[in-house]
Amino acid sequence: MTNEIVHSADTGMAWGVKSSFRRYLSAMPGSQTEVQPGSGVTAAGDIFFTLADVTSFDLGSRSGSIRFRGGVKFTGHSGLLQVSIMHPSITIDASSSVLVVEAPSGHGSLELAALDMGHHVIDGDVLMWPDVRTSLSEAACFLFNDVYPPGEPLDPITVRVPAAPPTASAVS
Ligand code: HEM
Repeated sequence: MTNEIVHSADTGMAWGVKSSFRRYLSAMPGSQTEVQPGSGVTAAGDIFFTLADVTSFDLGSRSGSIRFRGGVKFTGHSGLLQVSIMHPSITIDASSSVLVVEAPSGHGSLELAALDMGHHVIDGDVLMWPDVRTSLSEAACFLFNDVYPPGEPLDPITVRVPAAPPTASAVS
């Protein structure tokens, strides 16, 4: 992967996607992991998606949607394997939380994983959910060639957003 290393305390989302899948790819001659504009790589090697929009997220109830920029594209097996994770967002709700990405067609969205938000931490001016457990949603099994069953654990996600309401200039 080529990309700038981002500071792990930046607001955004850090995610390794699925470490066994990335090991599988790294052992495959000619495979590529391309980090897209808006994303980077953390010092720990996770993909980092910068924060795009928190205006649909309510800090008081800690519920709503948070959108991130960028993405990552994995390719292998001479192009037979193509997995894109683009423009992720998470929706947090007391009863269920999900990670949604752009559909592979580029139109519409796809629920990629269920999230178990667990506990949150206030770290200075940042609200953080460390190591959120993720499990593959049935709708997204096809992305991985149906190799993983629904509910398969993916890598944990760490999310950081500003702990105070955004100003107009912080939103795009
Ligand atoms: C040319 C056709 C393909 C061949 C010959 C092939 C072969 C294999 C083999 C041998 C494994 C087991 C690897 C191991 O145990 O270390 C594997 C795992 C896997 N393959 Fe493929 N594969 C092909 C296409 C694809 C495609 C198109 C995808 C789509 C994403 C895919 C996704 C996966 C995944 C997700 C795993 C499990 C990785 C893990 O978590 O351990 N494969 N494949």
